[in-house]
Amino acid sequence: MQKANLKDLYINFFVENGHVQIPSAPVVPENDPSVLFNTAGMQPLVPYLMGQKHPLGTRLCDYQKCIRTNDLESIGDKTHHTFFEMLGNWSLGDYFKKESITWSFEFLTKVLNIPVEKLAVTVFEGNNEIPRDEESASVWRSLGIPAERISYLDKDNNFWIAGEVGPCGPDTEIFYWRSDDPVPVKHDPEDEKWVEIWNNVFMQYERHADGTVTELPHKNVDTGMGVERTAAILEGVDDNYLTSIWKDVVDKIEEMSNTTYAENAKSIRIIADHIRTAVFIAGDNSGIKPSNTDQGYILRRLIRRMIRHAKKIGVDLESGFERTLALMIIEKYAKYYDELEKNKEVILDVLTNELNKFNRTLEKGLREFEKIVSNLEGTTLNKDLAFKLYDTYGFPLELTVELAEEKGITVDKEGFEQKFKEHQEKSRAGSEQRFKGGLAGDGEVETKYHTATHLLNAALKQVISKDVHQRGSNITVERMRFDFNCDHKLTDEEKQKVEDLVNEWIKQEIPVTVEEMSKQEAIDSGAECMFIEKYPDVVTVYTIGNVSKELCGGPHVQNTKELGHFKIKKEEASSAGVRRIKAILEG
Ligand code: SER
Repeated sequence: MQKANLKDLYINFFVENGHVQIPSAPVVPENDPSVLFNTAGMQPLVPYLMGQKHPLGTRLCDYQKCIRTNDLESIGDKTHHTFFEMLGNWSLGDYFKKESITWSFEFLTKVLNIPVEKLAVTVFEGNNEIPRDEESASVWRSLGIPAERISYLDKDNNFWIAGEVGPCGPDTEIFYWRSDDPVPVKHDPEDEKWVEIWNNVFMQYERHADGTVTELPHKNVDTGMGVERTAAILEGVDDNYLTSIWKDVVDKIEEMSNTTYAENAKSIRIIADHIRTAVFIAGDNSGIKPSNTDQGYILRRLIRRMIRHAKKIGVDLESGFERTLALMIIEKYAKYYDELEKNKEVILDVLTNELNKFNRTLEKGLREFEKIVSNLEGTTLNKDLAFKLYDTYGFPLELTVELAEEKGITVDKEGFEQKFKEHQEKSRAGSEQRFKGGLAGDGEVETKYHTATHLLNAALKQVISKDVHQRGSNITVERMRFDFNCDHKLTDEEKQKVEDLVNEWIKQEIPVTVEEMSKQEAIDSGAECMFIEKYPDVVTVYTIGNVSKELCGGPHVQNTKELGHFKIKKEEASSAGVRRIKAILEG
């Protein structure tokens, strides 16, 4: 069976059939704050499926980086991954069922050489809103799929929508017989030896919040095929981690731990999976760093769980193993995702820094865990103990749950979540309280000036000296005022340079990201702050790409492009050794 790289074969095939290849979107959605990560290939294309014109035309194809972390606990089995690649081809009001099904069939049987006898399909059986999909069934029959291998299934199986609202439609799914047993004549949707490999969605509807379904402006096609699962099928294994995608990484982990995959499959899969996902999150151009909120917290949890399993199977945590594995992954994928090579140092630093940080408390935390277990009455670890392990030793909940499971103990997860939420709210309120001083209201204009203040601070550091720090700041709707230490009057050239730099960053449309972390972590990360001793234990840090990182209560704009044009109006002495700049944002 065909073993050449699946992504290349796929893209070549669809490009030959008139599609334009589009690049993978970042793992962090660019225009959708409601989700943490892209979970499907179609997600970045939603506006175009809804009718917006795509600049590259009406036939598109790609491979998309996807991350799903909702069932982290299932990672460790043969088939689950937190990161995976999805192959997709789309028609935006161009071709429809016949062409889409025919191309899928051709790609599977002619390019990948999968025997037609091993395939079965499902189609939508219809309901009172949407008709039975006889059209797809008849295309399948015309291609040689016998009627017994075509199942008509209900909305739960053959109607696709991402979440509750948005573009949607009936789909046809393609299944492969993965077993040495003879292929049954008839398709049985309940038999797990039939594995789904491809999903073609005929997106011609939109579902609204009130539950109604209307027609979209165009009839679209959205298909999705998972690289990992298809690779396993092509290579004839039922464990995705035994495919060529993972072989070198798995071998390396065996070597590093001096154990075998057979002995420690679960831990080795977790290490392999989590480090790959961490590489892709840290390597994304969105600049995510480990933290205690949102994407940053997912990254932190993945790295910490990976470290715990590495320790468990005997990997030397101080050997630089995380870098070795990350480099293997970067090398493997750099051809397809050039951001990995570009962000290589950032990725390695993220992993090593997080490892060092966690390694300081891991051993003590594990000892504390053992103590808790030996004093435990009953078999449930209560929320206070779980929270202590989180708060004092940095154990994310699933890590505690997993440790507990290994001892036959359950954890009060709900109680923990409740406590965790209360804690976050308290520290947020604390930091908002603390940072109110000095800053005026939180209107839209003031918000822009807050962000401009960070850019100005960063620009002064570059132009004057890295020892320049903020000494004071005041913002009104008319202007910003910024005081900083400096032993001389700024020259015209210096002022111009500072102004140009700030405007350059505005032009670069850099996203502004926010994360919460402990004061110590903020200091360790090199974040800029005025009076560290005045800050609460949990602080908010705003990051503007590689330009600036500051402790601050916000609020800030989401992207520097919102600022308009920055102009210095005045530069003057404020007090001994302190200069003052007044500046405005225009337009
Ligand atoms: N959106 C569909 C899926 O994720 C097909 O791409 O399965």
